[in-house]
This record gives sequence, structure tokens and C-alpha cells, in this order.
Amino acid sequence: MELSSLRSRFGQEGVQFEQLGEDLSVVRLQSQLGSVSIALNGAHVLEYSDASGAALLWLSEKANLENGKPIRGGVPICWPWFGPHPEDSEKPAHGFARVSQWELIDIKDERSDGGLAAELRLTDSEFSRSLWPYPFELRFRVSLLLGALGFELTTHNTGERAFQICEALHTYFGVRSIHSTSVDGLDGVPYLDQLESMERKDQKGTIQFDREVDRIYLDPPTKAWVDGSRSGKRIEIESRGSQSAVVWNPWIDKAKRMADFGDEEYLEMLCYETANAGPHVISVEPGEQHTIGASIRAL
Ligand code: BG6
Repeated sequence: MELSSLRSRFGQEGVQFEQLGEDLSVVRLQSQLGSVSIALNGAHVLEYSDASGAALLWLSEKANLENGKPIRGGVPICWPWFGPHPEDSEKPAHGFARVSQWELIDIKDERSDGGLAAELRLTDSEFSRSLWPYPFELRFRVSLLLGALGFELTTHNTGERAFQICEALHTYFGVRSIHSTSVDGLDGVPYLDQLESMERKDQKGTIQFDREVDRIYLDPPTKAWVDGSRSGKRIEIESRGSQSAVVWNPWIDKAKRMADFGDEEYLEMLCYETANAGPHVISVEPGEQHTIGASIRAL
């Protein structure tokens, strides 16, 4: 939809539309609770600041701001598979939701309690069916909440056959220095080490970063915390409908291999992803739905 049509349909106080980069249409919500920008490409949350001005998310200087390309940073939605496609490496990594054009369908003004929310939708298309042969409706709701940003991704199976999905809210957090960053809350949780042929290990203490980290934590507690964020505040991630958490930092060599990632940028980010990934495959029966959600807040 053109920016002018978006403005005439959804424009109101605290809701703005702009074009970024090549051709990205972006909706920006702003209230006394903070601000959030969402690209319709991928329903991709690009930035979030809370009421105190703390900016929680990280976006690469080299991100491709272009329709049909994944955006490095913010919150990509991985769906309906996580990582490379299990059988066909030609298919887009992390699925097609993040490179599809979503439709903005609603802006909810709940300003009696200060909130504003945007709801976006993606349904099957010729493009999606060429990659994954099922009818579906995905809805993604992004909400400015008191002290937090909320995400809710709901998968509806609108077809007549059950399907299986993996998914992730692939959240990139900005940190002051990865060398003094840690993730707390996963002590004792088993994980699959994606860098060592999915070897199963147990987390001991907090997660620290002194090399590449790429792990799928299994059945983690619903809350985890990042210490060392850019704002200096502790960040809390609360997840629901999720059986996995992915923790990732590419470190030096992988950073150099990624065209849309600066060589030194590994120092200033980490991903903590609310997910159903690895062994955690979700089956959705015809007519049924499944929701994964997260909220992120600076404490
Ligand atoms: C993480 C994966 O979720 O995403 C990593 O665990 C991957 O293996 C990373 O490298 C980034 O993926 P992409 O496709 O955005 O480069």
C-alpha cells in the first residue's frame, strides 16, 4: 500500500508513516510509553525506545533497507522454518516471512492506559506457495506497553492439512561491549551447540561472550536478562508459547563473511531469540492457531 493510502487509512496522533532506504514503508508509533518503528517488509521491528529514551534494539549500519531482503538488526521474524531450510539450501534462510511484504491491518489506540499497538498480516501467496505449500494467515502484533515492547505472532492454519513450523522472534539487542555483556537466567539449561554439530551441553552460570556463540537452549525459563546493554540498564526478555531460546553472536570471522554486517559490529550486539527451533517443531492442525510472544523491557 502507498504511504498516502496508509496515512489516510491509519494516520492519527502518534502514528506516522515514512519511507526508509530504497523502498521500505515504515510505520512509527509514538506515545508517552515510547516509540517503535516497524517496516512492512517482514513486519520487521527496526527500533524501539522506552519512555525514558532507552533504545534497546540494534540495527546494523550496513543493513539492507530494501523490500524483499532480510534486514540485519531489529527483530526479524523467522517463519516457517528456522535457519537453513532442512532439505533445500536454495530456499531463504529463516523462512520467507522476513522477506515478504506484510499488510498493516489495524492500529489499536489503547491510550487510556498509554498503549498503542499495530497489527500486521501475511497470508499465503504465489511466492509463499512456491516455497511452502500451505495456506496460512500470520498475524503480528507489536504493542507499546507500560515500560515494555510486546510482540505476538499468531499462526493460523487456514488450509485442510496439518502443517509444521519452526519460528523465532530474532531480537538483536544493542550492547556497550560484548566483552562485558552477559545473559542471565539460563544456568543449568541444556543447549544444542550449532557450532559443534548440535552437541548437547549444559549452561553453567551466566552466558559470557569471548568467541562465536550460536546455541539453541531447550525449554528455558520464561525470563532471561541481558546485562551490559547500550543504555546501561538490565534488559528483561519474557517469552511465551516458546520452547527454545537462541543466543547468537557471530564474532570476528563470521562478521567478516556477512555483507550486511560491519566487521566490528559484533562488539555491539547480541541476539536473544524467543523461538521454537531445533527439536521444537510446532504442529498446527487445520483451523487451529498457535501464538508465540515476547516482551522486552529495560529495568
Ligand atoms: C541465528 C542463527 O538465529 O541467526 C545463526 O542461529 C545465524 O546460525 C543467524 O547465523 C543469522 O542468520 P541470517 O540468516 O540472518 O544471516
